[in-house]
Amino acid sequence: MTEWYQNAIFYEIHPRAFCDSNGDGAGDLPGLIEKLDYLKELGVDCVWLLPIYPSPRRDDGYDIADYFSIHPEYGTLEDFRRLVTEAHRRGLRIIADLVLNHVSDQHPWFQAARADRHSPYREYFVWSDTAERYAEARVIFLDTERSNWSWDEQAGQYYWHRFYASQPDLNFDNPKVQQAMLEVMDFWLKLGIDGFRADAVPYLFEREGTNCENLPETHAYLKKIRRWMDEHYPGRILLAEANQWPQETRAYFGDGDEFHMAFHFPVMPRLFKALCEGRRTALEWILARTPEIPEACQWCTFLRNHDELTLEMVTEEERQWMWAEYAPQPRMRLNLGIRRRLAPLLNGDTRKILLANALLFSLPGAPILYYGDEIGMGDDLTLPDRNGVRTPMQWQAGPTAGFSAARPEQLYAQPIDTPDFPLARCNVAAQRADPQSLFNRLRALIAVRKRLTDLHGHEPVRWLTDSDERLAAFWRGQLLAVHNLADAQLSLRLPPGDWQDAISGVQVRDVLTIPPFGFFWLLRL
Ligand code: NOJ
Ligand code: CA
Repeated sequence: MTEWYQNAIFYEIHPRAFCDSNGDGAGDLPGLIEKLDYLKELGVDCVWLLPIYPSPRRDDGYDIADYFSIHPEYGTLEDFRRLVTEAHRRGLRIIADLVLNHVSDQHPWFQAARADRHSPYREYFVWSDTAERYAEARVIFLDTERSNWSWDEQAGQYYWHRFYASQPDLNFDNPKVQQAMLEVMDFWLKLGIDGFRADAVPYLFEREGTNCENLPETHAYLKKIRRWMDEHYPGRILLAEANQWPQETRAYFGDGDEFHMAFHFPVMPRLFKALCEGRRTALEWILARTPEIPEACQWCTFLRNHDELTLEMVTEEERQWMWAEYAPQPRMRLNLGIRRRLAPLLNGDTRKILLANALLFSLPGAPILYYGDEIGMGDDLTLPDRNGVRTPMQWQAGPTAGFSAARPEQLYAQPIDTPDFPLARCNVAAQRADPQSLFNRLRALIAVRKRLTDLHGHEPVRWLTDSDERLAAFWRGQLLAVHNLADAQLSLRLPPGDWQDAISGVQVRDVLTIPPFGFFWLLRL
């Protein structure tokens, strides 16, 4: 039996960017409620909401100032309740970000901690008199931070932070912090949320002499959370954000007693590598290094998300190659990644965008789509940090793209309207009306994937190793998936019998001809 999350289609939403209901120029929860039918239409099963909590937004909400409330711009707790009810009424699920590792420096805990050495909240954070401790821990936000320690004038000590200096790490050695996080989870689970995307989980504990990632103490605490969730809220899920190699990420599944799901970070850059090289080698390589996972668990796979396309899980040589191919201009790069959206990365070539998604849908894992990528939205490189991939969702043509009733200059960011990614084409209304649009073809592909149970569980990938290396051709159960990574027509000699393409319905025998960047999912008739 497969669990609901093992074959769900996930869809990632930035609450600020999706739909503005009250005309203040920024998206909100009531706006999102208005668009739930759209998500149903696309075939989404579960929404992942980026942080919705009060925050000074120095890291766009990943710097939480209050765990028990909604950012006023996004709405109220009542709106959140309604969102959950309305989603569930449509058979949709909602998970939200759970940021365990750190808070905002504006959080009352940190304010109290820095003001008084004897405050009970002092021990909620990690302090030091020198900046020398835990020297083996890497700096993640390389372009902005020089050290994981920052001096706090008021506290008279250094505090530890794995991300921006405005995000002090919590001290998980303190049982009160451990307990506080269970209370946070309890609060949102009681409101009916279906689970959490747990942010930055490798970094919860620190230990001298280690790189402070994936420590046994961290796993022990995460297992405790899971036990507690199973006991009180069975059926709700935990999804791990651990940007690690497969072997390290595998540990976050435990024996099926830690996370239900985890992102598969290293497969993502290799999807892009395979598409650019026009051969399957990189995909074969990473899947061969991907261990099996417990029965009730699942990988989450993705092409893009709200962050830079991270190149942490590739070799130095691969990174340089990926940068050269996919981020030729320096401003396209950020930290160890590429701050561009899917469609611009693939030169707006609908064939390639569909092919990338077809691979995502047919390789193991439950796919996550990033809002706007289903209509091939462009990005805005003039915006700083990762904001260029967080611009308003484009619902229709016109100055505010149907996102808001505000005046265009009041929008928190402008819709994308460039010669390569014109708003007139890159909007939901226009694409709905065109049967051949990216939106409609992707929607159809999602529907097909839902029917094909061979793609839903842990069926391993069995490559057709003697096929042309420009083809990503593999078995998953009874399904024979064939993807042409090259800009050339290729053919494949089929195993004996009559075959039918589950996508187009076309029947074929003996030799399959695959157009440039084309793909087929074949079943025996
Ligand atoms: C990972 C999130 O995806 C990213 O957006 C954020 O900046 C860091 N974690 C810190 O919370
Ligand atoms: Ca609004």
